[in-house]
Amino acid sequence: MTDTKEASRLLYHRLAEFADNDSLQALQQILTSTKDLMSCYRCAIMEVETKFRVLNERFSLVHDHNPIDTIQSRLKSPESIHQKMLRKNLPFTLEAIEKNLSDIAGIRIVCSFVDDIYMLADCLLQQDDITLIERKDYIKNPKPNGYRSLHLIVEVPIFLQNEKRLMKAEVQLRTIAMEFWANLEHQLRYKKDLPAEIVEKTAERLSECARQSAGLDAKMQEIRDAIEQAGGDTAVR
Ligand code: GTP
Ligand code: MG
Repeated sequence: MTDTKEASRLLYHRLAEFADNDSLQALQQILTSTKDLMSCYRCAIMEVETKFRVLNERFSLVHDHNPIDTIQSRLKSPESIHQKMLRKNLPFTLEAIEKNLSDIAGIRIVCSFVDDIYMLADCLLQQDDITLIERKDYIKNPKPNGYRSLHLIVEVPIFLQNEKRLMKAEVQLRTIAMEFWANLEHQLRYKKDLPAEIVEKTAERLSECARQSAGLDAKMQEIRDAIEQAGGDTAVR
């Protein structure tokens, strides 16, 4: 953080040697607006995270069961934002970024059981300050490579000193098994210069692993359902 601040301060002073006053002011304006927008996305992450923490707390109180294993959040890096705008052939302006990218604020909710994913998604979407923009159910309809997760693009209000702003955020809900598979698949996807037959074989094997992990999730859910039907407590601690 300090390094970034120091780097932008140095960069600004270097530019000041060459640029005229107007250009410098314009640059300063862009930097301030960029910081402001990124801060708003960080606030959106906090809002959504809190909503899930509250749901987890209330469920553990009422049902003696913690639906959430972990919550992870990330703000998309400036490099990734730039690459995505280039890929989509869009101008690199703050307005275009805010309008077209819905995953600058990303929140990932990892659960033990598939049912809890749908329960949490429903609870979030019932809240009257949340607007659903898009829902992609890759659990019911996995991607061809086997990827599974429930994706929600939502709009959430953040309350600032004098205004309320609506921010978009991407929520990914998945089980521990889905998370394990997605992390490995992501790592392997970026391995470069592998022979074509290895790439093909790896894709087949990953797809098989995805099927097995879906089977595991289904069995775990069955076990929990059976215990609950028998009147037991399946608290995940
Ligand atoms: P982009 O947002 O441009 O990536 O396209 P999209 O909106 O069609 O993406 P989608 O909603 O399908 O996926 C968005 C995010 O889900 C990605 O950034 C990843 O974090 C995750 N994801 C989607 N597909 C895969 C996959 O096949 N493997 C892994 N590991 N992650 C995936
Ligand atoms: Mg997306």
